[in-house]
Amino acid sequence: MSDHELRVSKIKSGTVIDHIPGGQALNVLAILGIDGSTGEAVSVGMNVPSDRLGRKDIVKVESRELSQDEVDVISLIAPMASINIIRDYEVQRKHRVERPDSVQGVLECPNPSCITNEREPVQTRFTVLDDAVRCDYCETIVRDNIAEHISDD
Ligand code: CTP
Ligand code: ZN
Repeated sequence: MSDHELRVSKIKSGTVIDHIPGGQALNVLAILGIDGSTGEAVSVGMNVPSDRLGRKDIVKVESRELSQDEVDVISLIAPMASINIIRDYEVQRKHRVERPDSVQGVLECPNPSCITNEREPVQTRFTVLDDAVRCDYCETIVRDNIAEHISDD
């Protein structure tokens, strides 16, 4: 897409999460803990045309880089996403997300009797499968709407 067709302006510095599957941008914002009250400058494009994906979402967060944990969870809902670090309007680094072997402490187990949901909490750990994640403690499989299981803190 040429510059004059850009739907979402370029940013001066921060992180662009590109090639998010159409419809997943709000889940990416949830993973990043962005809900408007954080005061961060964020631009979102939804269902914009993409050569590779047909349609895609894009999230631009100004003046912030992402933690590895955040990128790991994003990879679960946006396996083709690319993370672009922008400085002085230039793309300084670009990399594809990689699906980790497991994620710790970032998802909640939906099984109420799982040991991770007891009063003395054990940190959650999920093994990442091709199309789902599996709780290492009770083997519950979460396949759909993984973003709904992200821990609040
Ligand atoms: N971008 C931005 N602000 C900048 C520079 C780039 O918002 N100052 C965005 C672009 O709009 C694009 C992404 O960051 O969505 C990656 O930029 P670039 O590598 O220039 O675009 P492409 O070559 O299209 O990327 P790809 O090959 O990953 O599709
Ligand atoms: Zn469990």
